[in-house]
Amino acid sequence: MSPSPSEPTPIFRAEDIARRVEALAREIDGGEGWRARGVRPVLVCLLRGAFVFTADLVRALERAGAGADVDFLHLSSYGVSRVPERPVALIADLTSDIGGREVLILDDILDTGASLAFARAHCAARGAARVRTAVLLDKQRQSVPRADYCGFPCPDRFVVGYGMDLAGTWRGLAYIGAVD
Ligand code: IMP
Ligand code: MG
Repeated sequence: MSPSPSEPTPIFRAEDIARRVEALAREIDGGEGWRARGVRPVLVCLLRGAFVFTADLVRALERAGAGADVDFLHLSSYGVSRVPERPVALIADLTSDIGGREVLILDDILDTGASLAFARAHCAARGAARVRTAVLLDKQRQSVPRADYCGFPCPDRFVVGYGMDLAGTWRGLAYIGAVD
């Protein structure tokens, strides 16, 4: 067995993430006005990193009174690298028809913007009536368009936990930490 890598340095505590996700759900509910307009949106979770964020946000939205459907779009990841090396590719497509639907794309972290741009174009090409975006973390690179909703600005470090991994490790951490 290979030696286990040293523990990530904590950056966002589990309780702070939970509080922020709850507030983000209220922001999204207020900002989108789905209830007032009688709209049931589709949350599009970008696999694999956004699965924990999606699980928490869909429940927070439900508590805020904004029920949503959920679908998944599996995009290629960094693999074992910490930097994007190749263009984004589609690994597995949505399984529902999002034609005419209001979509909120959810990703764990916004870095170069390539994943979100790909997902946005993909949902538009599938006929979504409106495509909005929410990320838990944003590395806030210049010239990368911001998501419509963001949990926290993120330092320029490689982070893991709360669904995010480094070559498959650390996804199950309740907190978010840096491994650089
Ligand atoms: P982008 O396409 O360059 O914006 O990067 C977004 C995707 O890269 C995210 O969906 C993550 O899967 C991955 N990613 C970017 N930065 C990190 C990081 O610090 N830790 C883990 N995954 C990351
Ligand atoms: Mg990802």
